[in-house]
Amino acid sequence: MQRDGFKTRFGILAATLGSAVGLGNIWKFPYMTGENGGASFLLVYLLSTFLVGLPIMISELVLGRTAKANAITTYYQLPKKNKNFWSLIGIGGVAAAFLILAFYTDVAGWVYAYVYKTITANILSTSPEETSKTFGSLISTPLTSLFWQWLVLGVVGLIITMGASKGIERTTKKLMPLLFLFLVIIVVRSLTLPKAKEGLLFLFSPDFSKINAQVVLLAMGLAFFKLSIGMGTMTTYGSYFRDDANIPATATKVMLADLSVSLLAGLAIFPAVFTYGYEPQAGPSLLFITIPAIFASLPGGRIFMLLFFLLASFAATGAMLSLLEVPVAYFCESKKMSRTKATLLSIAILVVLGATATLSFNVLKDVKFFNLNFFDLYDFISSNILLPVGGLLIALFAGWTWGKEKIFTTLSNYNTLNNQKIISLYYFVLKYITPILVFIILLKGLKLF
Ligand code: TRP
Repeated sequence: MQRDGFKTRFGILAATLGSAVGLGNIWKFPYMTGENGGASFLLVYLLSTFLVGLPIMISELVLGRTAKANAITTYYQLPKKNKNFWSLIGIGGVAAAFLILAFYTDVAGWVYAYVYKTITANILSTSPEETSKTFGSLISTPLTSLFWQWLVLGVVGLIITMGASKGIERTTKKLMPLLFLFLVIIVVRSLTLPKAKEGLLFLFSPDFSKINAQVVLLAMGLAFFKLSIGMGTMTTYGSYFRDDANIPATATKVMLADLSVSLLAGLAIFPAVFTYGYEPQAGPSLLFITIPAIFASLPGGRIFMLLFFLLASFAATGAMLSLLEVPVAYFCESKKMSRTKATLLSIAILVVLGATATLSFNVLKDVKFFNLNFFDLYDFISSNILLPVGGLLIALFAGWTWGKEKIFTTLSNYNTLNNQKIISLYYFVLKYITPILVFIILLKGLKLF
């Protein structure tokens, strides 16, 4: 039987970009930039993207395409020696997919709920007390928040059962262009507000006193999270790439487009935050408390708010597809399950694990580990430990074990592409810079030395 895969060039780009663009851009990036000093955080983030993110993304895509298999099988099949050790990358990846989805589907549920609420009722209010009440009642009611999470799981599960081309590719090809369109409309509106300049200054003038080892780890963790790397998502998607796809070029386009979406989200949010006198450091609730208050002051605010949460729901959905595909591809190929069964099993695991994250805002709110509730714990472990460790192993495997010759032949599509110079640059960074940076940042950020 022929293995499913992405069929067209645009489909490859849409699916991969659909994975990268998500709540990481629309929710995490603005609030983390807001909390950690604006432009200086952005700068560290940019460096991480170029020196760590891009090389690992290219590696994952090419390893997946060469093995044509799910993440666990890829890292078992490609090494000649120590197969069990390297396959830990894939095993850790499947675990990370579940952990990330556990809290991601919760936030995605809030986004879906806000789309619904914006259509059916007027939840905009210029008073942040009011908007924070609306948000509070959503997350503090166990059954309501669980309901939205289950709805999200249902939607994503349904698309995944349709497969890589008919499910993932077809959906992301429709959602991605709409997402860009809506975002541009909102940015234009935001930039024509009176205090747009303050918002821009906040995003683009650095304050280096805010940078320390923890902030660097957060910025690098965000780069991993936003580019969907370090846990086999890009490996799995790479396995659906066509053999004639230009991997370095595709990865660079995805990275740049992903960065643009983050910056546009920042441009959509911060000018408005300053114009209406809100705090840029509002934290994770920036999206759900500050945004509705801001849009309430804007003529036609309800329409802009609807566009905003719709585009956030598109972004979240594309990203969740790529996360869920990691365990589903593994269960199908290695455990010989049907796609439907594999999806149902993954969803069942997520109903249980996801509930611990969702309920950590109500019935489980006093359950804490290292002072973090389940929700924050899953986020911290995945972004700041599992993804960097996975990324480090991937860089070491691709750069040091797999071999220079394999890299050059596979990335040039067996010398049909004229991209030797680009591959040389990538290979140098991957081999000498990426692993050292990840290693140091990881140890320093976790205070291990
Ligand atoms: N990149 C997505 C976002 O920014 C989230 C995501 C999808 C992800 N697949 C991933 C994060 C794999 C880490 C690993 O929202």
